[in-house]
Amino acid sequence: MGLEVSGVPETMLWTLHNRASEALRDDGVIRDPECLRVYRGIEYDYEARFGNASPSHGVRSRVVDAEIRRFAATHPRPTIVNLGEGLETQRYRLADLEVRWMSVDVAEALAVRERLIPPDDTHVHLAASALDAAWADAVPEGPVHVTAQGLLMYFEEQEVDGLIRMLAARFPGAWLSFDTIPEWLSRRSMHGWKLTPSYTVPRMPFGISRRELPAKMARLVPGSVTREIPYSFPRGAGRWLAPLLSATPVLGSHTPSIWTVELPTRP
Ligand SMILES: C[S@@+](CC[C@H](N)C(=O)[O-])C[C@H]1O[C@@H](n2cnc3c(N)ncnc32)[C@H](O)[C@@H]1O
Repeated sequence: MGLEVSGVPETMLWTLHNRASEALRDDGVIRDPECLRVYRGIEYDYEARFGNASPSHGVRSRVVDAEIRRFAATHPRPTIVNLGEGLETQRYRLADLEVRWMSVDVAEALAVRERLIPPDDTHVHLAASALDAAWADAVPEGPVHVTAQGLLMYFEEQEVDGLIRMLAARFPGAWLSFDTIPEWLSRRSMHGWKLTPSYTVPRMPFGISRRELPAKMARLVPGSVTREIPYSFPRGAGRWLAPLLSATPVLGSHTPSIWTVELPTRP
């Protein structure tokens, strides 16, 4: 299958490329035959567009899989809402859980997803912007875990703030898992970050330091509890560099990070 996607929706192929590179390895950080099916089902020169794959997005998926498992273990029959789900195959990796899935992504991305990953009664697709609160009306009663993997950085800061406040108002007691990039990486993207000669990463206006994020969440949603989820790279320099950097007082504040915010049970 060939396809025409551009802008932020095209980034779902970048993260797919990186996840597939892990799923292909015997020692990869994720086991994911469905990821490989989707990867091979799209006629696309991933290497030419995005260059050599990195384990980063496989690592992120593994970490968020574990967070969803934790939530499902303590909350009966929850709904997992994936904002900007792209071509993630998380639902298959977690197929043993008794959960309902909702993918919220823009129509252009969802049209590609649906050619390879069909929705069904318990895996619902909603073509909407995460920033349009109307999608929240479709979420059934009960425990909710919202994930936004590789999404918030593409929004303006005030859009991120509005989204977090909306989630807190609509889903008291929900968990919210997401990743952030540091300001330097955001700045780099604003000046045209060329990943390869043929691919410039879309603008990522929202960057934040690791040290600031918990205070920001406490300001936006008083009573929320913010946990940083540690991660490490499976091999290469990142394996020792990532934990070393994280523990370094100044530099450690400027790394990509993964978080779960537990929203208060009363808005
Ligand atoms: C970097 S990709 C991440 C995809 C997936 N979460 C993953 O980790 O592979 C960014 C995703 O955000 C989606 N997206 C962009 N703007 C959006 C919006 N306003 N609301 C919902 N999704 C959006 C894109 O279509 C794309 O699927």
